[in-house]
Formats: sequence, structure tokens, C-alpha cells
Amino acid sequence: MKKNIVLCGFMGSGKSTVGRLLAEKMGRKLIDIDYYIVKKEKMSIPQIFEKYGEEYFRACETQACKELSQLSGCIISTGGGTLLREENVIEMKSNGVVFLLDVNADVVLSRLANDKTRPLLQREDKETAVKTLMQQRSPLYNRAADHIVNAELPPWQVCNKIMEIYSSNC
Ligand code: S3P
Repeated sequence: MKKNIVLCGFMGSGKSTVGRLLAEKMGRKLIDIDYYIVKKEKMSIPQIFEKYGEEYFRACETQACKELSQLSGCIISTGGGTLLREENVIEMKSNGVVFLLDVNADVVLSRLANDKTRPLLQREDKETAVKTLMQQRSPLYNRAADHIVNAELPPWQVCNKIMEIYSSNC
């Protein structure tokens, strides 16, 4: 059974873009966990956060991981908070290889300067929010990852790197 390729990393690390490229180049199905939840809940992520709160969204992520770990041979793009929960990591790794898309805070801040879709970053002090979250999350991302890829490079290069690692290791 072909393992899933699971993309992990901070908001703005390029998980969705690289996921699309991988799916196209490898002829595999792409599942974006954020989109999966949005479709199921029939609400946007900001609406879910506003109406039910972050904990509810995290429960949706955990449920999605349980369901998606049944698949094989897919590209799964996680949300920036998905693989912070140990149980989600266990589910995703049960049939997947986790790639961390590694970026620094300045790259995230420039990529998401005008973003309105990430509830956790809708604040005056966006820079502090990104830096603090990143510091808290980095060890957990690193722990979840089977492989770490420099995602400050253009998406097509990140995609090629992942394909190279996947084909020689998996
Ligand atoms: C989140 C990241 C978002 C989305 C939600 C929460 C996070 O996904 O799941 O806004 O906690 O980092 P992206 O990483 O795709 O932006």
C-alpha cells in the first residue's frame, strides 16, 4: 500500500500550494484538511472559530485525521495546528510520511501580510503572534516530522525535493 504524503508546517509555509503541485506531478489525490473541515461543517474557518471556538475546530481536525488515515497514496495537507496534537500525529503516521515545510517568521509575515483568513493572526501585533506561536510550535513540528524540507525555496523546488526524498525512502 502506498503511503500518504502528509505536509506539516506553520501557516504560510506553503502546504496547500506544494500539496497541489505534488498531486499534479505524482497523479495523486489531494486532501486539504482545512477544506475537508469547511466542506463538512458548511462554514468557513473564521466562522467556525467565531461560532464554536478554537477547541471545536481542533476536535474537527482530530476527527478528520481519524477519517483520513484510512486513505492511502494521497497527498494530505494539514492545517498549521493539526500536528501539534500527539493523537493526530499518530493517526497521520499510521499510513503516512510527514514532511515539515520549514520557514522562518519573516517569510511567514511577508507571505501573510494581507491575510484575513487565519483567525489566530487577526491582531494588531501580528509579528509577536507569529514569533510566539512559532517558538511554541517548532519543537512539536520537528518531533512530528519524518523529513524536514526548506520551504523558503519556490514551491516547485520544495515539491521536487519532497518527491526525491519520498522516492528514495518510501
Ligand atoms: C491554523 C492554521 C490554519 C487553519 C486555522 C488554524 C493554526 O491552516 O487550520 O486557521 O492553528 O496554525 P493553514 O496552516 O493552512 O493556514
